[in-house]
Amino acid sequence: MLTVSDLRCEYAVNPLGIGVAAPRLSWKLMHPERDQRQTAYQVIAAHRADALVAGGDGLVWDSGKVLSSDSVAVVYGGPPLASRERVYWRVRCWDSQDRLGPWSETAWFEAALLRPDDWKADWIGYPAGWPGRALYFRRQFEIDRPVDRARLYVTGLGYHELFINGQRLGDAVLDPAYTDISARVMYRTFDIGAQLVTGPNVFAATVGNGWHGSPRLLAQIELYFTDGTSTCIYTEDWGGWFVTCGPVLEHSIYGGETYDARQERPGWNLPMERAPDHNPGGWTGAMRVPPPGGVLVPQMIEPIRITDKLRPRAIAQPRPGIYVVDLGQNIAGWVQLRVRGARGAQVALRFAELLYPDGTVNQENLRVISPTDTYILKGEGEEVWEPRFTYHGFRYVQVEGYPGELTTDAITGKVVRSAVEEAGRFTCSDDLLNRIQTMVWWTERNNQHGIPTDCPQRNERMGWLNDMVARAEEAFFNFQMPRFLAKWIGDIYDAQDPVSGGVPLTAPRAWMAGRVPTEPVSVSYLETSWLLYAHYGDRRTLEAYYDGYRKWLQRLSDQAQDHIVDTAWVADWAPPIDHIVPGTMLSGAPAAVMGTGFYYYGACLLARIAGILGQAEDQKRYQTLAAAIGDAFNRHFWDEQAGGYGTNNQSCNCFALWLGLVPADRQARVVDNLVRAVREHDDHLTTGNVCTKYLLETLADHGHADVALKIAAQKTYPSWGYMLENGATTLWERWELYTSHGMNSHDHPMMGSVSSWFYKVLAGIRVTPQTSGFDHFELRPHCVDGLDHVTAEHQTIRGKVESAWRREGGRLALRVAIPVNCVADVAIPVASPQARIWERGVLIWDAQQPQQTVAGVAFQRAEAAAIAFRVGSGIYEFSVEQ
Ligand code: BGC
Repeated sequence: MLTVSDLRCEYAVNPLGIGVAAPRLSWKLMHPERDQRQTAYQVIAAHRADALVAGGDGLVWDSGKVLSSDSVAVVYGGPPLASRERVYWRVRCWDSQDRLGPWSETAWFEAALLRPDDWKADWIGYPAGWPGRALYFRRQFEIDRPVDRARLYVTGLGYHELFINGQRLGDAVLDPAYTDISARVMYRTFDIGAQLVTGPNVFAATVGNGWHGSPRLLAQIELYFTDGTSTCIYTEDWGGWFVTCGPVLEHSIYGGETYDARQERPGWNLPMERAPDHNPGGWTGAMRVPPPGGVLVPQMIEPIRITDKLRPRAIAQPRPGIYVVDLGQNIAGWVQLRVRGARGAQVALRFAELLYPDGTVNQENLRVISPTDTYILKGEGEEVWEPRFTYHGFRYVQVEGYPGELTTDAITGKVVRSAVEEAGRFTCSDDLLNRIQTMVWWTERNNQHGIPTDCPQRNERMGWLNDMVARAEEAFFNFQMPRFLAKWIGDIYDAQDPVSGGVPLTAPRAWMAGRVPTEPVSVSYLETSWLLYAHYGDRRTLEAYYDGYRKWLQRLSDQAQDHIVDTAWVADWAPPIDHIVPGTMLSGAPAAVMGTGFYYYGACLLARIAGILGQAEDQKRYQTLAAAIGDAFNRHFWDEQAGGYGTNNQSCNCFALWLGLVPADRQARVVDNLVRAVREHDDHLTTGNVCTKYLLETLADHGHADVALKIAAQKTYPSWGYMLENGATTLWERWELYTSHGMNSHDHPMMGSVSSWFYKVLAGIRVTPQTSGFDHFELRPHCVDGLDHVTAEHQTIRGKVESAWRREGGRLALRVAIPVNCVADVAIPVASPQARIWERGVLIWDAQQPQQTVAGVAFQRAEAAAIAFRVGSGIYEFSVEQ
């Protein structure tokens, strides 16, 4: 029987405040038998949990028995949600033999404010401003009747922290998520029923600059009383809302925060009656301020939270009175400080990724900023403080002015990031690769802050589209990305010029916006969208931005001549220094090769997306365009004499092969050339951020996974091992160890595609162009010489996929787990088709004699180096005798 678990709505568990009238539901399935699928489902929905009875009259929707295997992104079929509507739901499913399973647990979702006219609130602030200061808002109100339901809809720009009666709401920090606020502003919904009391209440908020300067607040409190009446309290001009400044004297995301505890206002966020120290003087009426311009949308992505705490690894004292704390790990976040001392004493915390030889912090690679948090003591016993409106990328904290001796209890490192769930785990017999995996994992985490940033430390922190081409699959394998990256695709759309179709290199639009032409490497717009579909069945993102994708491709067509696009300002960025074309940061792969290649890939992706959306004519059109671009690529860049493409370097040849543009009769020469180019560099890469991904994958796909492994497992320059040998705990932006001013971030995910290679090649977990929500995938592990075992787990939207292999004497043991409602094409590696394969003791492959069959495993074909089976759900243990 199928049992159902992990019910999600819009990819979240019981979301409060969703922004769609027909949300999408997903569930996971379990079954004790192998090879099981869902053949039908039934969803029931009601406004009360206790009305969820099949056939009951309290239902708002009963899907009935729907003959369908859909268990991912199933569209809610009840009446379109009204604003504020809460719906409870359950589901039950029929298995392959039409046996009915039990009802799931109950889940729920609740709509936010779906119509613009639901909002009564105005934006308020303090127009003249208190330069540099965060603003403190408060509004007192009376409750004289029992409250049945209470909601707060709220946002504060740039960042905000919220309180009801002195109690902090939620555990999010650095809210709301970064967007272009002239296009979209994200707000959140809170159930505040538990915090309210009969009598006087106070809603209070601290609002800082965040990404947007001049703090402002928008809030709407809706109270529904048990007697059927209701009231709404909302931000408005004057209207009982008060504002002041407080202890946050200065603050910026890049530069840090200065907090003067002497300026705290005791009781500022409590009702006056409960705060004898509250000083109503110093507060002034808050005034209406201009709205940011963008539409208000519920924030559906995971909020930024403190996800981990780190104790100092070591404390040094390089100079008298100057301590340097080493967290042992480069992180994004801040530290909490504990201190006792005299009123007015100042403690400065300077953050850095690097140290000078004398042991003090080196902030040179942070370019023009010197991130420093400063705490000024009030002198009242132990004081515990951490900032609210900044974050840093750092491993070291230099503490200056600390009264007394600094001990490890005084400093706690706090990891701060968008709290996306983890999705993967990879380990193998080579500890170096395990350490590389950990390094990539940390780097990815350190760069999730409402958008996928390039780095968390210097004055940048942008969502670069080119980096995402290298990074996306790494992120999908290691973390749950359905909400986070769908939001970012929206940021790209917001940044797209609606007329020309041009897309800037960063979303939200920031760095050098407008100065560089639309780049084909921005194909991450389409590729990441398609990955959302392949991994999570997210068709809505494809529908919502289809028009944007088409305009983007048209823009490239407008820039093309004879299908050649030679704008590639950043493609294959930051290769090893000797392979950089002077005056650029590019790898010597000509702009036209990279530009045209990505233009081709964009056309292929758009044809694929058109197919998914049932746009048959478009699909054909883009397929035809792709074929024409491919021909032009071969006409322009093939070098018959060299037997390679472009400049015949690693980047050009691996890219052409990866794109599938190399005709069969040329492939052997190109692959030979590629392998030779690796050997010539003593098994090192010469590629930049994007081609590093293509190099490793292409080598494996053309029979040279061993060469790729050599590159991945190098310890000498340039390599990931070289970073580790030099003390890295997160990826560098450059293959070189540079510590001075310039382009030298030490926490840059764009070089992390080696991690997706671990999952895709060593463990062999791959989506295919036909995959939708991981319904069908490949397992093609590579048991490369030099490794004894590999284990990878990936938590998909349908359940856990596992691929684990181990050499046992002369045998190879392969264990795979396929979630219910999935099918996998498993290619079991063999030295030759003469090998024999068993599954839990049953011989399933022997070229010499007929084989037995086992449930769930169907022979497909014998390949030169693998025997391929189609495998249904369940756990399988194969054993291969070579
Ligand atoms: C970013 C990189 C990006 C590059 C492109 C840099 O400043 O940090 O991640 O790839 O710019 O120009």
